[in-house]
Amino acid sequence: MSDEVTYGTYLSLDALLALQRPRSQPEHPDELLFIVVHQASELWFKAILHDLDGLVAALEAREVGQALWRVQRVNTLMRIVSEQLSSLSALPPQHFAQFRTFLGTSSGSQSIQFRAIEAASGLRDDHFMHALEERGPIPPLVQRALGRPTLQELFLRVLDGAGAKLEDLYLGPGPGLLFFLAEALLEYEQQFAQWRFKHVQLVERIIGPQTGGTGGTLGSRYLMRTVDQRFFPKLWEVRSRFFGVKKPPGAP
Ligand code: HEM
Repeated sequence: MSDEVTYGTYLSLDALLALQRPRSQPEHPDELLFIVVHQASELWFKAILHDLDGLVAALEAREVGQALWRVQRVNTLMRIVSEQLSSLSALPPQHFAQFRTFLGTSSGSQSIQFRAIEAASGLRDDHFMHALEERGPIPPLVQRALGRPTLQELFLRVLDGAGAKLEDLYLGPGPGLLFFLAEALLEYEQQFAQWRFKHVQLVERIIGPQTGGTGGTLGSRYLMRTVDQRFFPKLWEVRSRFFGVKKPPGAP
């Protein structure tokens, strides 16, 4: 056998392309797309988690330029994951109904990588923790992310180390690197919320607002409540200070 690296061997394509296994009997022609979009999303989640690790390391080392580069790439990846959902808008409800029973109780809500991204980014609220614990032991990937400070905490530490307060970034002569990092983190939050919103709209479009999920939730009514979750509440909060009664220090 030749040791030559080819496109197929480098990417393990034989293995990769053998992993799409529709369960419907007879096989429904739309199930392949359904599987591909989920699997592709999981691959992008893997790449996002990798860059989030890089982002955490950069913030811990207070390397602002490096952190900015990482978060900008995460934002590009999040846009791709959201965009992919559009392809399932072309899955008509009556077609999905024909193979949905073959999914059993499997559901995106069991995605360990998705929960790890949420945990790495900063979700710690009671509802999130309760939902995690309800499913049995917390998977190591999620545990690892929960054991680290949130992105907001890490960013505030960087600011503190630079002797700055959050509102300082939005005052003064001109935007510096820390301002751009803050805005890129906010952009990440927006991209993530946009995935949530696109997903809930897709769910309503396909199974309707009243149908429960295969994972046992209220379906779109449950998902709609998750759209408001925030990784960076302080980055949102700081904006209102410019419009409230209390002016930030140094404001004209
Ligand atoms: C036909 C398309 C889809 C439908 C009808 C659908 C439906 C649902 C429903 C009803 C839930 C709520 C949990 C439950 O009770 O099952 C859910 C959660 C979830 N789905 Fe989907 N989904 C679709 C596509 C996708 C895709 C392509 C992904 C990409 C990985 C995905 C990832 C997730 C994730 C991560 C959750 C958990 C969200 C959270 O708890 O905040 N879904 N999905």
